[in-house]
Amino acid sequence: MITREITEKLGKHQTPFYYYDLDILRETLSVASREAAGRGFHVHYAVKANFNPVIMKIIAKQGFGADCVSGNEVEHAIACGFPVSETVFAGVGKSDTEIEKALRLGIKCFNAESAEELNVIDSIAGRMGKKAPVALRINPNVQAHTIKPITTGTDENKFGIRLPDLDNVLDRLKELQNLRYRGIHFHIGSQITDLNVYRNLCTRINELWQWLTGRGFGPEDINVGGGLGVSYNDPDRIPPFADYFNIFSTSLDSRIRSTISFELGRSLTANCGSLVSRVLFVKPGALETFVILDAGMTELIRPALYHARHSIKNLTSTGPVKKYTVVGPVCETTDTFGRNIQLPETRRGDLIVIRSAGAYGEVMASRYNMRSLPAALFSDSL
Ligand code: LLP
Repeated sequence: MITREITEKLGKHQTPFYYYDLDILRETLSVASREAAGRGFHVHYAVKANFNPVIMKIIAKQGFGADCVSGNEVEHAIACGFPVSETVFAGVGKSDTEIEKALRLGIKCFNAESAEELNVIDSIAGRMGKKAPVALRINPNVQAHTIKPITTGTDENKFGIRLPDLDNVLDRLKELQNLRYRGIHFHIGSQITDLNVYRNLCTRINELWQWLTGRGFGPEDINVGGGLGVSYNDPDRIPPFADYFNIFSTSLDSRIRSTISFELGRSLTANCGSLVSRVLFVKPGALETFVILDAGMTELIRPALYHARHSIKNLTSTGPVKKYTVVGPVCETTDTFGRNIQLPETRRGDLIVIRSAGAYGEVMASRYNMRSLPAALFSDSL
């Protein structure tokens, strides 16, 4: 909730900027943590969702591990207080330098995505006189029923080892002396709101667990990935962590003794962040009235990239409600936050807030049009 008092404080700052309500973050983390721990599950934070150090340090304090997808993320997570022993490194294209860095730091596990990658990790580990812990990222071919650009676990996707290739990969794994097999990893997509897809994932995991165990590859760890969606149209709603974890505790085979971990990004950080902007101009168009903000796709690219709809509110005006097309200043027609947005009558200088922007917001900002990167303000020090 952005109260009148907060609005007054925000209004004193140069826009656009990200505003993070750290109480919302702490509350979200505590619900997620309680619901996971109560079922014996572990949570790794998917650093890609928001790597702002203030946010990262609070998440690290909650006792979560870190899920990283670049050497820089691995280094940053450790610097922000995540234990190296609970830091994993995923990604379909790890460079040799990144692999060396992660080995030197002593991470928990590489989530390897192909036989070729296993060879490379093995040879680098051999050269460094180390044994590299690896899990196999498996592409389970399970539909996530989310939008296509963020679906990752089907035959069409570049991610993970395909089921028909698994046999060969296990043969290779047996030969590679500098690897230590830890388990398996999945991630089927992001912004998943139809939780039933996780039942399908569990069915696939159960089959694979049985098959792998029969082949002498019983996993010590099973990492089921992330993807729990948030309510973009109801930005104050805490994501349904209990329902989500419950699916896994009831659908995974009760004989499984592996450590079960989750890699949550969006559901932990989306709600705590807002993009705050000012209206530069209100411009009548042929078909609609444009509200032109000083924030655009350079600050929050999700609407332009995925046609995502975020809740947009005018914090200043109390006039009669009208319909607007809310756009940014960038020289692209796709720089549009939404059409038919109902706002109280809006004028130049009004303060506009775009909610649920704490995940994949600030981290995806760019300097296109030579714009400055957005600043970040925090409720604790407003
Ligand atoms: N684990 C892996 C291997 C991933 O690739 C991802 C996200 C996650 C975990 C975390 O997923 P989450 O819990 O946040 O859904 N930029 C897009 C989202 C891309 C997600 C990429 N992978 C967006 O703004 O919607």
